[in-house]
Amino acid sequence: MLPWRAPAGKRADPYRVWLSEIMLQQTTVQAVGAYYRKFLTLWPDVKALAAAKQDDVLAAWAGLGYYARARNLHAAAKVVANEMGGRFPLTAESLRALPGVGGYTAGAISAIAYDERQAAMDANAERVIARLYAVQTPMPKAKTELHAHGMALVPERAGDFAQALMDLGSAICTSKRPACPNCPLSADCKARKLGIQEQLPVKAPKMVRPLKRGAAFVARDRTGAVLLVKRPDKGLLASMLEPPLGEWSENFPSTAKALKQAPFEADWKKRSGIVRHGFTHFELETEVYVANFAKRPKFKGEWIAAEMLREVALPTVMRKIVEHGLDEGGPLFSSRKPGP
Ligand code: ADE
Repeated sequence: MLPWRAPAGKRADPYRVWLSEIMLQQTTVQAVGAYYRKFLTLWPDVKALAAAKQDDVLAAWAGLGYYARARNLHAAAKVVANEMGGRFPLTAESLRALPGVGGYTAGAISAIAYDERQAAMDANAERVIARLYAVQTPMPKAKTELHAHGMALVPERAGDFAQALMDLGSAICTSKRPACPNCPLSADCKARKLGIQEQLPVKAPKMVRPLKRGAAFVARDRTGAVLLVKRPDKGLLASMLEPPLGEWSENFPSTAKALKQAPFEADWKKRSGIVRHGFTHFELETEVYVANFAKRPKFKGEWIAAEMLREVALPTVMRKIVEHGLDEGGPLFSSRKPGP
């Protein structure tokens, strides 16, 4: 069973439901499980989370991506703990006032935690409804229509309904090769009658993401500690750590140009290969320069011991860069996939 689900007959804890829903925004159920358990161990209730240091919250979040979610999570915990006596708002409408809680999330929390009649439709649930009613309007325009169809179906047990719909979408009514013979709704499914289930929902045209390129600098001391700097507190990956980076532009800089972007002069050596990472609005390719230091050069940043790299707020893209810099053959500081 998914770890945030309440046992049969028990009420779900709104803190847990909220935490899981924020984590599940744009991240798969599979990736979220371990993070969810880690957060609950570190911060078992909303007051504990509100009292945490932001850096600790970002560090625990590192690897989940979309870091604004972690900052909003922390901000919302403070609102609930300090302005609402530690009690979550009781309706979707009032939940929406919390940082990071949009229409979908507010509906999901209030349906799951309070059985409020809300159609909480994630992409999986939208796919089920699009097929059930053979909605052929393209996404995202179809959302209003899908939501209206979903809303008309919500029974008294709105929370079970919301989660059943999501589960049906993720396990049976999958985007490719749906398991229609196993589907409890197949007799009523209009798309199936028309034989168009695999074409629905009609997708929005794919956005072409621009490609940016640059250089990154991995400085290592004799103990294996790596120099990291903190990103600005606004914008992409705000307040997270990274190795010093050069500018991102259309082409890789020449070595001479890259060396001018280095944080300080040193015997920088370019690693073979490049690191690729997909952000929402662009793709990044970066070359990685490395230098070893017997004595740490003076620079505004933190030298993070190799064994601590897993514990700090290092986003996946930066982790890939550091790993590429540290080792030609494979990961040096993580023996497993990024995660808590
Ligand atoms: N995706 C978002 N919220 C979910 C939930 N509560 N259960 C399964 N998948 C989800």
